[in-house]
Amino acid sequence: MNPDSQNVTDYTNNNTIFMVWNFKENLEVSAVFKKLCKLVINLNNSVNVRFPVSRASCVMGIGYDAWLRLQLPVPLPKELANFVPIDGEKHTAVSSKGDLHFHIRADNTSICYDMAAAISDILSSVAVSTEEIHGFRYWDSRSILGFVDGTENPQGQDRELYSMVGSDDGLYKGGSYLFVQKYIHNLTSWKELSTEQQEKVIGRYKSNDIEMADDVKPSNSHIALANVGDELKIVRDNMPFGNMSTNEMGTYFIAYASTFSTVKKC
Ligand code: HEM
Repeated sequence: MNPDSQNVTDYTNNNTIFMVWNFKENLEVSAVFKKLCKLVINLNNSVNVRFPVSRASCVMGIGYDAWLRLQLPVPLPKELANFVPIDGEKHTAVSSKGDLHFHIRADNTSICYDMAAAISDILSSVAVSTEEIHGFRYWDSRSILGFVDGTENPQGQDRELYSMVGSDDGLYKGGSYLFVQKYIHNLTSWKELSTEQQEKVIGRYKSNDIEMADDVKPSNSHIALANVGDELKIVRDNMPFGNMSTNEMGTYFIAYASTFSTVKKC
């Protein structure tokens, strides 16, 4: 596998479409899947030639059930499994089915739209789209909560180190574990908090994006909890989204990791 072809290390772009597709029951899907793989490679090559400055790409993720149904190679990637829900004291990290996931990035919505349309043309005969989120860069890369999101992401060579499977799973070296979660925020409640209270939730100052000193940062702040060690990093490309008519304002959380256990620790 050529690591360069994976695009998981690409940096955040201005526009994104995320799509989740599930295969229909009792259909032969392998032939369509082969066509789809060719298309995704074609789309990535084509945007590099046609719009090099747009930094556009499409990454396809394959779920555990789909891997088996498509009879992809065995043994499987060591940590590929269906996500088991995590029940916390207050919240549950739910598990929902996803056979194929698409992460389409470009500086321009037309490229994202055309890629999503080409994928849908091929897939719709054998699969249904169960989620589609159009994310956008919000001001200076802020989440819809108003805080800059992505600052502590690995940079440069570290992106490959932390996002791609290494030699410990040689067959899948250069692959990546993908994990996504769709969050809908109660922005009314969030905005009722003072800026100081919000900053304590995140662990960084809102306007200048500077991390709180260790003796100020609450131990239950997001970044104190999510920072699980210098060796255990993930590559995130969260995108905000918002729809006034449905009142759905949220964050599409997406992470690529060299091991899935790292994502679970975060
Ligand atoms: C509503 C969803 C989320 C939002 C809005 C959000 C937002 C943020 C923000 C604003 C930061 C600080 C800036 C930065 O370094 O990027 C951050 C850091 C981070 N987040 Fe999240 N996050 C979300 C969910 C998650 C989840 C589910 C995980 C892990 C599974 C996670 C892992 C991390 C990590 C690892 C960091 C860097 C911590 C550090 O080293 O300082 N985040 N996030």
